[in-house]
Amino acid sequence: MVVGGFFGDEGKGRVVAYLALRRSISLAIRCGAINAGHTVVYRGRTWKLRSVPSAFVNPSVELGIAAGSLVRVDALLKEIEDTGCAGRLCVDIRAGVIEEEHALRERSSEHLTKTVGSTLQGVGEAMVDRVRRVLRLARDVPELRGYLCDLSERANEYLDEEREVLVEGTQGTFLSLYHGTYPYVTSRDTTASAFLSEVGIGPKRVGDVIVVLKSYVTRVGPGPLRGELSFEEAARLGWVEYGTVTGRPRRVAPFDLELARKAVVLNSATAVAITKVDALFPEVRGLRDPSRLPRMVRDWVEHVESALRVPVIMLGTGEEVEDAVYLG
Ligand code: IMP
Repeated sequence: MVVGGFFGDEGKGRVVAYLALRRSISLAIRCGAINAGHTVVYRGRTWKLRSVPSAFVNPSVELGIAAGSLVRVDALLKEIEDTGCAGRLCVDIRAGVIEEEHALRERSSEHLTKTVGSTLQGVGEAMVDRVRRVLRLARDVPELRGYLCDLSERANEYLDEEREVLVEGTQGTFLSLYHGTYPYVTSRDTTASAFLSEVGIGPKRVGDVIVVLKSYVTRVGPGPLRGELSFEEAARLGWVEYGTVTGRPRRVAPFDLELARKAVVLNSATAVAITKVDALFPEVRGLRDPSRLPRMVRDWVEHVESALRVPVIMLGTGEEVEDAVYLG
């Protein structure tokens, strides 16, 4: 499992894509919904994925969309076409469907637009309808007929056969509806346990939980952000980013070990991956060979490992999926 350790936008997409190329994964499953955009830069092309798993970069990996996830049918079909993964993607029959009406409802809510700072994609309102048991599911949509499967059954069968299944979580631990900074959170739990439940795999079947951290912390929308920097300071450090879905500038703070440790505990992480290490140490930009990691970076990694009490298995050193140092 791969989950976010801060407020989303840690670079889960690039970590999942890298693992899909590096490890022998049979099935990769995306959770969550279209409010989360996962960016993958692979061989010169940039993908901003809202539904398709980031593991699509490896053509031998089968892809799935979890029962607990929510899709927009038009956006999903377009993404399947853009990524060319029609022959190997399956949507769980129980996945939920977001309608235009859900986005309209969110756009007319002052609480969501002003206080929560929602991405207004209709995700929370679709969740409301799911709880009210009036939401349409993937099995009710004729255009999805060719893609449907019982994904939970398939994932459990693969695990029985000792084939590797990768679960791609969305957003970040502190945007969790339960464990985050309520009410400045998203409309689902975003910890590892929740994503297992979204897929339909029991907790005893999990081998590794990788928490993704970024070398600095960002947050889109309101809510607490310890050590927040001014826009000017963030720009000086080269840490300015814009939201994948909304295009809004992200708020920025330095790397937060205390928050990271809490994420490790909440997710029972077995390892962490750290992205954008080149933003902190420009000399590692584009580095792939672990034996060429500068002493200063090694010391920093050791410091992080001893504070978090889990190994760092991967460092992102550039936008390209393959620009990474594997330490696992
Ligand atoms: P909603 O989930 O779209 O209603 O947004 C609720 C809060 O979560 C807002 O502050 C959003 O900016 C934030 N949020 C939701 N999804 C993501 C994401 O994928 N990355 C970063 N922030 C997100």
